[in-house]
Amino acid sequence: MGPMDSAELLKARELLRNGDVVAIPTETVYGLAASIDSNSGLKKIFALKERPYFDPLIVHVGSIKDAQLVTKDWPPVADFLARWFWPGPLTLVLPKADHIDPIITSGLDTVAVRFPSHPLALEIIRLADSPLAAPSANKFGRTSPSKASHVRAEFPDVLVIDGGECEVGLESTVIDFQIAKEKSIVRILRPGGVTKEMLSEALTRWSGPTEVVAAESSASPGHVKHHYMPPIPLAIVDDDFDAGTVKKIAKDLALPLFQKVSELSLPTDAVQAARLIYSEMRRLAEQGADLLVVRKTKEREGGLWTAIWDRLSRAASWDSDNGNRLGD
Ligand code: TXA
Ligand code: MG
Repeated sequence: MGPMDSAELLKARELLRNGDVVAIPTETVYGLAASIDSNSGLKKIFALKERPYFDPLIVHVGSIKDAQLVTKDWPPVADFLARWFWPGPLTLVLPKADHIDPIITSGLDTVAVRFPSHPLALEIIRLADSPLAAPSANKFGRTSPSKASHVRAEFPDVLVIDGGECEVGLESTVIDFQIAKEKSIVRILRPGGVTKEMLSEALTRWSGPTEVVAAESSASPGHVKHHYMPPIPLAIVDDDFDAGTVKKIAKDLALPLFQKVSELSLPTDAVQAARLIYSEMRRLAEQGADLLVVRKTKEREGGLWTAIWDRLSRAASWDSDNGNRLGD
């Protein structure tokens, strides 16, 4: 790391220790971070993001021990998954420790905790000498940032620590637990980098009976139906879409006929697709497109595609099954 970088890290340390916010790289997306012990820093996150207080934040820790300190209960199955997947893109929702500021948890009894793998994220947590609460570093409801430049464009006054392009490119998988003797349920509240298949596979090595299920989307307060929205409309179309489809989209959305339609074409490899969807959405909009389309294709299902389609369908204003998605 060059001298420039260490000066920036020292600045980040000072800001975080003084109740301010810093944008930090993680392996999933960039986060807008504040110390969990600073109520003013936490309030700043919500103000900058224009995020409603009903949407709780994820606490980022640098060790399993710190995760245990922010939670009240640390069930063995959670411990098993933490040791299997951490550091990495998995967030555990567990009963919160009493000292956790309710602004972080939106007044819930639970807290979401994650141990990220990006070395700079871990270095900044260490320098701050405190776990960091951090949502994705974008305005509420908008596309998440996978590059430092995305964050700078949206938050020109925030210090952004540049850790390069995010390796995963999609937010972490959020899970909670329903523990029972007969069978414990691991519920996926938000699909992400750690897939359902990966969780099930890991749990075959766990001694207790478990099942991994996808939750109703209402189970996660912030995982709302319309989210990750790019600056221009996104439509999910069938393979045979044509000029007629484009006309129909404009009509359904009550918009004038589109002038420049750009296709968001996804690589066949899911890991690569996840890595680039957010930056492609931004890039195509910046190049003057007024409609983005993405084709639904049958072979792109399961595994990491579940998370990719989750984000695309929440980002979409229109899809070929339902037409206008904004009305309801
Ligand atoms: O990959 C990530 O998770 C990124 C990076 C920065 O770590 N962070 C992120 O944070 O995506 P955010 O705030 O954009 O999304 C947090 C999600 C929301 O859907 C929120 O509802 C859910 O986690 N969440 C947080 N606390 C929760 C809780 N106690 N119960 C249920 N869901 C919770
Ligand atoms: Mg977000």
